[in-house]
Amino acid sequence: MKLVILDSADSVGLWAAKYVKKRINDFQPGPNKYFVLGLPTGSTPLGMYKNLIKFHEEGKLSFEYVKTFNMDEYVGLPRSHPESYHYFMWHNFFKHINIKPDNVHILDGNAENLVEECNKFEDLIKEAGGVELFIGGIGPDGHIAFNEPGSSLVSRTRIKTLAQDTLEANARFFDNDISKVPTKALTVGVGTVMDAKEVMILITGTHKAFALYKAIEEGVNHMWTVSAFQQHPNTLMVCDEDATLELRVKTVKYFKGILGNLHNKLAEDEADD
Ligand code: PGA
Repeated sequence: MKLVILDSADSVGLWAAKYVKKRINDFQPGPNKYFVLGLPTGSTPLGMYKNLIKFHEEGKLSFEYVKTFNMDEYVGLPRSHPESYHYFMWHNFFKHINIKPDNVHILDGNAENLVEECNKFEDLIKEAGGVELFIGGIGPDGHIAFNEPGSSLVSRTRIKTLAQDTLEANARFFDNDISKVPTKALTVGVGTVMDAKEVMILITGTHKAFALYKAIEEGVNHMWTVSAFQQHPNTLMVCDEDATLELRVKTVKYFKGILGNLHNKLAEDEADD
């Protein structure tokens, strides 16, 4: 596992976007070779999406041969609702880039048969050849996607009832009225994300510091589902200084030491200034 520690949340957004650009460009996608990207919603990845849009506008990155799979979607919220993840993704990212709508996959939380919808999503990922790079955020309770504390670490895409902590955290998007927050969601499982060739997790802010500590300094534990990625062969955690507050000085020094200058190389394209 790599932990890249950057000075601010803005730097995390820029670094993550550069990393995605480099991975896609190095892959050299084409009509017979799509790059398959797993994507999150939330406030954390917004900076990354803004920078990816900028790279696209500057002609440095094309999404023509990219397929995407989103992590999750609320159940029962209309697609046009500003808090639906469909709306979030189109508004904040997809409508600004050259991705073909057919290559975008977001779970349908209004499907007639939700179980079938989840199974179909797993099949589509398989048909696409698996996810090359799955990007995620985490909740303060250590959840990844909507894999709440106690979720099976081998779980697949399914319906989840959301934890009270998540409802409270998300109430800010629903007029601070917890009764308006959908209580169920469709979500990829921990196992679904574990199957990706590489996983990049973005963590920013002091409110995520305890979760980051649980994710990397303690053992694998289904009460902190993000800790499962200790057992993934290719996990990259990208955080800001604030998120490191609960880590041991030794841990921070270790990762800063080994990745000090190297982290620039991980994300820099030769074409970058
Ligand atoms: P956030 O949400 O990026 O808005 O903090 C992340 C999450 O809860 O998974």
